[in-house]
Amino acid sequence: MALPSASSLRDDLALGGRITAMRLAGLALAVRGDPVARLMHKPWRLDPYPTYAAIRGEGLARSRVGLSAVGTHALCEQVLRDRRFGVRLADGRPPFAPEAETKQTGEHADRGARPSDDAEASLLEPVDLSLLGMDPPDHTRLRRLAAPTFAPRRLQQYRAIAEEVTAGLLDDAAVRGRFDLVRDLAAPLPITVIARLLAIPSVDADRFARWGRALATALDGVRSVSHAHELARTTAEARELFTDLVDRRRADPGDDVVSGLVEALDAGQMSLDELVSLAQLLLVAGFETTTNLVGNAVRAMQATPGQWEALVEDPTLAAGAVEETLRYDPPVQLTARIAHEETELAGVTFRRNWGVLVLIAAAGRDPQAHPDPDRFDLRREQTTPHLAFSGGAHYCLGAALARLEGEVALRMLAERMPGLRPTGRAVPKTATILRGPRTFPVAA
Ligand code: HEM
Repeated sequence: MALPSASSLRDDLALGGRITAMRLAGLALAVRGDPVARLMHKPWRLDPYPTYAAIRGEGLARSRVGLSAVGTHALCEQVLRDRRFGVRLADGRPPFAPEAETKQTGEHADRGARPSDDAEASLLEPVDLSLLGMDPPDHTRLRRLAAPTFAPRRLQQYRAIAEEVTAGLLDDAAVRGRFDLVRDLAAPLPITVIARLLAIPSVDADRFARWGRALATALDGVRSVSHAHELARTTAEARELFTDLVDRRRADPGDDVVSGLVEALDAGQMSLDELVSLAQLLLVAGFETTTNLVGNAVRAMQATPGQWEALVEDPTLAAGAVEETLRYDPPVQLTARIAHEETELAGVTFRRNWGVLVLIAAAGRDPQAHPDPDRFDLRREQTTPHLAFSGGAHYCLGAALARLEGEVALRMLAERMPGLRPTGRAVPKTATILRGPRTFPVAA
């Protein structure tokens, strides 16, 4: 094994010091009651709903972590749809760009943790999230090229795959009797669907799942130097596989998503880097999210008297259970936007390059949008559409696929295992952005 050079050790120490300082500063703010800081720290983030309620009550919650937050349905929707907000800085640079113009004055604090150079910025943002990190015009161009992945014709194929995969997983689980809902159903279902969608050879499937899990942790930001290096390693490995896949599809095109994108690449409509990042995004965006949807749905139904029994009695309610879960306990709890020009938000002058967290999960519990919002009811008629798939330019491209997978998993689970019951506690993941159980022991 090669020994790290003195300069890379120095860089690691500097980055480690900065990350530790950021975390300690955030924790201190959380202890003092800063609601935005509480979203990022234990124990508060394990049950973020009381914090969401506090933030909703404030309209625009301002925080000394350098970000504001909105949590009412109306304000969340407003920010997501407003073209004056983007995901990069106003001049097109990424949010962690060196010398970023992110100073928030007055009641907003300075971000206080700006990376000092490009190398550090790339360690703090090691994963290129493709569309999720792009603004127009690049976002518009790339999104148009990615859209055929989710065309209705393809969705029919994905349904057949989801049903076949779920049947196989439930057969195996039924033999065992006791199983882990996450490990044995909610995780392998979406990973197998995405692997088929991208036509990943089955020999690579395990590595693929490992990368998906590792890359998803990047959404919450870098936790430590070793986490930064793990992400950089995983990205490099995933990029190698996807680059190789592009070569193979070019030599032997099929009816899969990558073959379609290679055509766009060869027509000069996108770069190889963009194609590889997009494939990586499909892995990250479509895996943990759907896993959490199935896990959160079963957990909510099992915890609310009569709900699982209602689904067993009428499995066609599975689609309703999916929608109610997306409102009540969504897999993606929040996203963020940056103002590209000075604008008014909840009566506050919001300056150029100020960042705002959009609390999707808080919007789902807003009593102004959803009557009796803390009650899970799979028969609920949602008069106000939830924001679980975001809104505006970045509305989830895989929403129809996610709904389909969730509906298939819940319907087949209720049909085949009507007596399903938990045999232990669902242990939550400790992330801020993605919420769902890490393990959930059940018996058929
Ligand atoms: C229940 C499951 C899912 C949830 C809750 C979810 C949620 C979201 C959210 C909230 C965003 C937008 C984030 C933002 O506005 O900043 C998003 C974007 C996206 N999602 Fe999903 N997603 C799910 C499943 C999937 C699946 C299965 C795929 C594809 C395999 C997928 C692909 C994408 C892509 C490509 C984007 C980027 C769109 C853009 O930036 O224009 N998602 N998703």
